[in-house]
Amino acid sequence: MDKQLEKLYQDQIKNEWYSAYLYLSMAAYFESINLEGFAHWMYKQAGEEQEHGKKMFQFLIDRGIKVVLQAIPQPPADFASAVEVFEKSLEHEQKVTALINGIADMADKCNDRPSKVFIQWFITEQVEEEKNASRILDLLKKIPANSAGIFQLDHQLSKRE
Ligand code: FEO
Repeated sequence: MDKQLEKLYQDQIKNEWYSAYLYLSMAAYFESINLEGFAHWMYKQAGEEQEHGKKMFQFLIDRGIKVVLQAIPQPPADFASAVEVFEKSLEHEQKVTALINGIADMADKCNDRPSKVFIQWFITEQVEEEKNASRILDLLKKIPANSAGIFQLDHQLSKRE
């Protein structure tokens, strides 16, 4: 595999685990304000991010490349509100989409055929990731603070499988 392309994957493994860390931090925030359904949703999200990282980890191994894990930065711990959490989630997913698109562009440039196929799954996944964050953000913006609506949404989010 081209060295520049390999570097993007090595970095992205760390970025996916950072995403898991970020969502765990958001879960900790929701636990601290007793919104357990929101926290549950974030635990599930963190688990998905670990899976994304592991998919890339396995892909490099399958290509005969040694994975070198990088340090994961500390995520933010303080959030002002549920709205701010989901604004940050959406912003974060948009950044991840740009990184995934960067890998796809490099795979095209290097004409790395297995990579071109592999990265398609992530491109599709990012559509879902941005949609999930933006839908919850939209609902949250319609709910007045401390109204019953927030508890209804908390209940709904507690059902995420
Ligand atoms: Fe791994 Fe949220 O994208």
